[in-house]
Amino acid sequence: MSAARRKILFVCLGNICRSPTAEGVVRHLLTAETSDPGVEVDSAGTGDYHLGEPPDPRSQQAAKRRGIDLSGHSARRVRRRDFDDFDLILAMDRKNLRDLEAMKPAACRAEVRLFLEYAGEPGISEVPDPYMGGASFEHVLDLVTAASRRLIARLRSEAG
Ligand code: 4NP
Repeated sequence: MSAARRKILFVCLGNICRSPTAEGVVRHLLTAETSDPGVEVDSAGTGDYHLGEPPDPRSQQAAKRRGIDLSGHSARRVRRRDFDDFDLILAMDRKNLRDLEAMKPAACRAEVRLFLEYAGEPGISEVPDPYMGGASFEHVLDLVTAASRRLIARLRSEAG
């Protein structure tokens, strides 16, 4: 891989809990890096339930307790041109991945993968959905933070 900037899109269902958390965590971790690893991040949802809304207050509070501000994000849906605008589209769970694969143009720039698998998070491949109580917001943040550290390390080593 070249050392060119890599554009990464995190995707969940509503774009109000998991994917804006991943976007915010990666951005936060990158601000602490001493050298620029050449990564840009964004997030989007496969569903249209919360378009234009800020992240869920529970996600915002959990992130804020760790010094991460998610308030600036506005929920949007994945669009066709994302598959050419981004290098890597990382899905939070298998349903998100299936929905992305169904939308994906036959030829496109983006590689579409499960976030935790791509990051190499051991023993777990999906970020559980906290919206309806499937997991705590703290747990999601813990998981996303661990995977984001691995992701940044992977991207750094690939960029040489
Ligand atoms: P997210 O969580 O996909 O992590 O943003 C959800 C948010 C909203 C809904 C489902 C999941 N919803 O059905 O409205």
